[in-house]
Amino acid sequence: MKRRQILKALALSTVLALPGVPSAVAQESVKVGLIVPLTGPFATTGRQVEAGAKLYMATHGDEAGGKTIELIVRDDAATAEQTRRIAQELVTRERVNVIAGFGHTPLAMASAPIATQGKVPMIVMAAGTSVITEKSPFIVRSSFTLPQVTVPLAEWAAKNNLKKVVTLVADYAPGLDAEKAFTETFTKAGGEIVESIRVPLANPDFAPFLQRVRDAKPDAVFSFVPSGVGSALMKQFDDRGLADAGIRLIATGDVTDDDLLNGMGKAALGTITTHHYSADHDSPENKDFVKAFEAANNGMRPNFMGVGGYDGMHLIYEALKKTGGDTSGQAMVDAMKGLQWTSVRGPVSIDPETRDIVQTVYFREVKEKDGQLWNVEFDKVEAVKDPVKAATN
Ligand code: DHB
Repeated sequence: MKRRQILKALALSTVLALPGVPSAVAQESVKVGLIVPLTGPFATTGRQVEAGAKLYMATHGDEAGGKTIELIVRDDAATAEQTRRIAQELVTRERVNVIAGFGHTPLAMASAPIATQGKVPMIVMAAGTSVITEKSPFIVRSSFTLPQVTVPLAEWAAKNNLKKVVTLVADYAPGLDAEKAFTETFTKAGGEIVESIRVPLANPDFAPFLQRVRDAKPDAVFSFVPSGVGSALMKQFDDRGLADAGIRLIATGDVTDDDLLNGMGKAALGTITTHHYSADHDSPENKDFVKAFEAANNGMRPNFMGVGGYDGMHLIYEALKKTGGDTSGQAMVDAMKGLQWTSVRGPVSIDPETRDIVQTVYFREVKEKDGQLWNVEFDKVEAVKDPVKAATN
């Protein structure tokens, strides 16, 4: 080495060794605050979203747009006041650049004003009520909307000779979205809704509601309950003998959630659902994803929440690449608008108008393969936008 080079190297090493002095080579980090329920009755949702986000980082590295990505995970126990408090704390004290997660609609709604005030992108990885993305211009959604997956099912029901249907939904915003989308589409196609039943969100006892369904003698029940609750519905549907009485169960894929499906047993067989992700989806991307997800999480099968977390991180990484590491909220959200990629669920894009995800909706039937239950896709509708906003735009 020449003397000049030696001196330069020495000077640099001195700077690097000084505590508190930022090194010339160390990258600035981008902090992502992930707020999800990790305790309480909806802990499965948080576990999935967190596992999805962490798998994305493990497989894509922790760097994008020249910045190091740092994930800060917080548990809100699915309580809106906690979500809001944590979001506030992360934005003002921890100075996170992005907030993400949001396991249920009320949790996302409570945090939207904080994204707006703090001008930070808010990635909704789980919640599915249509109106959420309208609550802040900084919200971008990687999950889905209930009307998006429900409308195709209502059309399918009308075409498949189901004339009378009872709707049975969880009594909160996404349930009401699903009920409305199903009712409007099904009645327009000539079907009849004989009863609309709403069940409590937390720990519902389905027995009295299912007795009402039995008495109404419909051809089918259409149901939405959030991820984690489907097993209880399936068990009581079976215990009450509704299938034996000739009543079918059709549902959004939240009910036959991949994480819990194997535990539902044979009662779930034959259930027709519509959704945007099945762990059984036949693509090379998904096969690799399921294998890696199970390997990293003690055999836990990924569900649509896991994919929401995985794709939500993809949005953040791609935005940083596009902005060249500019973390200003507006620049990042603008970079996310119009992004298109091949997700493990199939082709997706972010609608630049609504910041919602545009995706394929699949028709699936629960079947047994190699001793396990799967949501087996048998048909699809491509490039489905959230129909609520598509109608008003
Ligand atoms: C919501 C929560 C869920 O667990 C789900 O499966 C769908 C929607 C929600 O609260 O928006």
